Amino acid sequence: MIDLPDPVPLSGQAKLAGVLGWPVSHSRSPRLHGFWLRQYRIDGAYVPLAVRPESFVEAVRALPLLGFRGANVTVPHKEAALAAMDRVEDLARRIGAVNTIVIDADGRLEGRNTDGFGFLESLRAQQPGWQAAAGPAVLLGAGGAARAVAVALIDAGAPEIRLVNRTVSRAERLARDVGGPVRVFAWDDLAAALAGAALLVNTTTLGMAGQPPLELDLDPLPPEAVVNDIVYAPLETALLARARARGNPVVDGLGMLLHQARPGFAAWYGVEPEVTPDLRAFVLAEV
Ligand code: ATR
Repeated sequence: MIDLPDPVPLSGQAKLAGVLGWPVSHSRSPRLHGFWLRQYRIDGAYVPLAVRPESFVEAVRALPLLGFRGANVTVPHKEAALAAMDRVEDLARRIGAVNTIVIDADGRLEGRNTDGFGFLESLRAQQPGWQAAAGPAVLLGAGGAARAVAVALIDAGAPEIRLVNRTVSRAERLARDVGGPVRVFAWDDLAAALAGAALLVNTTTLGMAGQPPLELDLDPLPPEAVVNDIVYAPLETALLARARARGNPVVDGLGMLLHQARPGFAAWYGVEPEVTPDLRAFVLAEV
């Protein structure tokens, strides 16, 4: 049983934030921030905001008028959000997407991206001995999540990023956009990419509930390489199960979701929140 205080009744000064998405019903962010609001007994609310793509700019520009302190942005608005901000942090610009908006006292919107931070914090929390400099990192996928992970790994000092994607042109575009020591591999060259790697990260949707499986031959991967799947439904993906069975240290995808939320919560509500086993259990539980 999780021992969680009841929500604080909202006053007229309640601190407001939310998540803009379309659809937004799948988002776990209201549950996640809702847990922290109760845990830290904050007079505040975090709400799902279902906003159509054609209304995104109007909706996001209205947030200061409604007294919001900020918001998260999820699919399909993360790229559109870049252009709708008054200011965009360097990191978010390099990643090419905004996932966190902070509104200042003058009502100006600042766009940030905390996905890469969440990825690294989760990796460090679940595998404290991991070092970016230990060797090449293999990244599967070239979508939005891959961009955030690639930039985070480059900034953390990974000597080489081996980018493997079904659509090679998309991987080449990512490599061009983010710069740094990124090498593109075709999916057929996966064995060469895995050889000598210190980290393998799946950022594709393969292996997610309802999606096709991720079929990989892990034989060329060194047994000490860390394997991180950012898919969290199911929590133990087939990739993680196979990696664990052959002795690789593993990192599940829930940690990234939880840790990416920390900077937004701190900015909006004024408390640095903690990722705990109770939070993990609460977010995983059926709503
Ligand atoms: P996100 O923003 O969450 O990263 P995305 O932009 O839709 O999601 O990216 C999904 C990733 O999964 C892409 O790398 C995609 O490969 P393509 O760039 O070739 O589309 C990958 N992916 C999805 N379905 C796949 C499949 N059936 N086989 C191989 N890769 C797949």
